[in-house]
Amino acid sequence: MMSEPAGSRLTPEVIDMTDSNTVAAQQPTGRVALVTGGIGGIGTAICRRLAQDGWRVVANHHPSEQEAALAWRHDLAGEGLTVDTIAGDVSDFADCGRMIAAIKADQGPVAALINCAGITRDKTFKKMDEAQWRAVIDVNLNSVFNVTRQVWEDMLEAGFGRVVNISSVNGQRGQFGQANYAAAKAGMHGITMTLAQEGAAKGITVNTISPGYVETAMTLAMRDDVREAIVASVPMRRMGRPDEIASAVAFLVDEANGYVTGANLPVNGGLFMH
Ligand code: CAA
Repeated sequence: MMSEPAGSRLTPEVIDMTDSNTVAAQQPTGRVALVTGGIGGIGTAICRRLAQDGWRVVANHHPSEQEAALAWRHDLAGEGLTVDTIAGDVSDFADCGRMIAAIKADQGPVAALINCAGITRDKTFKKMDEAQWRAVIDVNLNSVFNVTRQVWEDMLEAGFGRVVNISSVNGQRGQFGQANYAAAKAGMHGITMTLAQEGAAKGITVNTISPGYVETAMTLAMRDDVREAIVASVPMRRMGRPDEIASAVAFLVDEANGYVTGANLPVNGGLFMH
């Protein structure tokens, strides 16, 4: 059985980058990028892209996903990409503290944080119970505090940092059946704008990306007719691809783009313009 070592410490794998089957990373930045929800649909594309761009990438996953994470890491190794994984419950502040300390000890301080972990518990408001409300607020919004707070002081000290919050078009416009999700996603950008101001003079940029409907397990879980109706309303008449979100992340974490902060970048095929 595949499993990660107890304590969910990083389990670095040495990949021979001289192998002709491997993809050579671009100039290594030597900097650590942490992607929460890193083994999910959008998270995977972000990890892949940042690793290709030379970041030392750590993918966070939920503690219940140890086996999936190991298989995921092997898949990326097969593409010639070295990406570490670490378990951590982003809805739990103390567990995030443990996770960040482990990354710092093994890899160094986190220079780029991509807050990508997210869940849905879609229900019309009259059917939504407290557990569904709290689960989404905890995982999608409180997580941003829980993880970012633990890396923020290191970024201030380093005089460099990149935080990218993966929000949603539905945080910008609301969505029938998503009171919890829309509230959390809108809240993410409130944090973004505040931290952008607090980090601006310290070399830290903080931005939001608001994807539209992207081809992932999350959107696949929707009722087919509901999803098809939404996609029909997208001016581009298609869903987004995870790599299209990753491309926007790559732009925002690039040192060359240090003058972009507090922005909310829509990547939604034209679904919402304002
Ligand atoms: N606008 C107005 N009315 C709507 C509506 C809409 N968009 N959707 C449904 N209704 C109406 C229905 O016509 C129905 O009306 P009546 O009671 O008068 O017949 C009523 O609302 C109940 O509709 P449903 O039968 O669909 O209700 P349900 O409880 O079975 O389903 C739901 C509710 C599951 C939340 C469903 O509405 C739904 O899937 N909504 C879309 C949620 C969504 O977009 N999720 C995105 C997930 S992916 C993601 O979140 C990623 C991202 O960032 C984009």
